[in-house]
Order: sequence, then C-alpha cells, then structure tokens
Amino acid sequence: MALFAVFGNPIAHSLSPQIHQAFARQHQTELTYQHRLVPLDGFINAIKDFTQEGGVGANITVPFKTEAYKLVEQLTERARAAQAVNTLFWQQGKLWGDNTDGEGLIRDITEHHHFELKQKRILLLGAGGAARGLILPLLQQQPLSLTIANRTFVRAQQLAELFDIEVKPVFQLQPDYDVIINATSSSLNNAPLPLASEIFKHAELAYDLMYGNQPTVFLQQAKKNGCSQTIDGLGMLVAQAAASYRLWHRFQPDIQPVIQQLRQKIAAV
Ligand code: ATR
Repeated sequence: MALFAVFGNPIAHSLSPQIHQAFARQHQTELTYQHRLVPLDGFINAIKDFTQEGGVGANITVPFKTEAYKLVEQLTERARAAQAVNTLFWQQGKLWGDNTDGEGLIRDITEHHHFELKQKRILLLGAGGAARGLILPLLQQQPLSLTIANRTFVRAQQLAELFDIEVKPVFQLQPDYDVIINATSSSLNNAPLPLASEIFKHAELAYDLMYGNQPTVFLQQAKKNGCSQTIDGLGMLVAQAAASYRLWHRFQPDIQPVIQQLRQKIAAV
C-alpha cells in the first residue's frame, strides 16, 4: 500500500492522517498515512528513512517547514516564495517541495465560503513563516491592496520590501480594510492582539489561521467590534491537505464533508 506521513514535533494531535484517510475513501482507494514524531535534530534522517521505506509523499509541519525548504532538490514557485515547504513529493528521481498552505486559505475563503478576494483591501497580521507563505497566493487573487502589519515592525518591513506591498505599524492602522487575516501565533496563547477595536468596524471578513472548539480570541475581538463574518482555520487545514492529496494522487477531494466531520469531532472534545 502506498506510504504517506506527516512529520512534526509535536505531532500526536495532527488531524492530517484522518483527513487523508477521508479523502482516500472519497477516492475509493487505500493508503497508509502515518504521523511521525521527529526529534528536533533528526529531520534529515527521518526523511532518509522514509525514502528508504518507499514513502511516496509527506506533509511537513511545525517546526520543520524551513528545514524541508532547505533539504529538497526542487521547489515549486510558491514554496520558493514562502521559503517553507509543507509537502514533499518525488518526481523523476528528484525530491520536490511545495507549499499548499496559501492555496488552502484561498480555497477555503473563495470556494467553501464563497467570498471573493478580488478588489478587496486586505490586511495581513504577522510576519513569520505562516504570513510569508500567504503573500503570493493573496496577491494572485488581485486584491485592491495588501497591507502587512506586525508587532515587530522591522519583520513586516522586510517582507513588504521583498514582495513590494504596503506595510503599516500596528498602532497606525485605520478602519480601512475589508478583510483582516490573523497569521500570527497569538491565538495559540489566547492572547488578544494589540489592535485598536475600530479597525474591524468596516471589515467584512476576519480570518484566523488557528482553530479550536471555541472562536479564537482574535475572532471574538473582530465580531465584538463590528466585523460581519468570522472564519477559523479548520477549512484551510483541510484545503491545504486536499492540495497535497491532488498533487500525489491526481484526484481533487471534496473538502466540505471533511470539514463538517472534523468540526463535529472538535466540538465534542
Ligand atoms: P509562524 O511560522 O507560525 O509564523 P513565527 O515565525 O514564530 O511562527 O511567527 C509568529 C508571528 O506571530 C510573528 O509575526 C509574531 O510577532 P513578532 O514578529 O512581533 O514576534 C506574532 N505573534 C506571536 N505572538 C503574538 C502576540 N501575542 N501578539 C502579537 N503578535 C504575536
């Protein structure tokens, strides 16, 4: 049976094995998809072992996406722009790295939630690896503008220069945005972002890359301050997995039923 795995640390709570098995059922195929806990200094060996075992494809998660980016022999354009790899595949004897996170976000917003990003004024919060991977896919949606803001201004400034987009200090943000995306890790610690409540006043959509059984602090902030629609990152998680699945199997899974299934499961926790 074809062997796949997700590599990370920690990894026990990863939903990727369940998601890929759900896709395989839609596809009426069988596969093995494991989660593999990798020691912090053991990523290269883990991939070597997996290759020798005949592994066909892999997902890479925190904290190894940058290491995977450096390890692969070939990069897709979007993985190069993100400087991070979340999907490995082998083609003509070469190890390739792709990054499907941005496609996951876009597909969740535009196809699953039917929200058009074209001509919107988008604010991207955060300047770490997660934010970086979203810039090129967001620009490809032809928004009216894309602005980046981050607690540490200089990090946002570096990304803005690289992608030729607008940058603003967090404390100077005005209610000028239709879409506000939280790509910081603040929701992990339940920390409210240091944002003026007014910035949500005219926003149509707030999106948090994180998810949980309750709305994240960022989404609560957005809703309370007038944003009309809030979405968490569960759909993005499923959609980025679907993009990896398509790459490996040439089959496009239906994300909708899988999102619903996981939503029920998370609510029951
Ligand atoms: P990732 O790969 O998940 O993006 P990262 O590279 O460590 O992780 O980046 C984390 C991001 O979340 C950064 O933009 C960080 O802001 P700083 O650059 O100022 O560190 C942001 N972040 C994390 N916790 C935050 C908080 N409590 N408030 C605001 N921003 C926060």
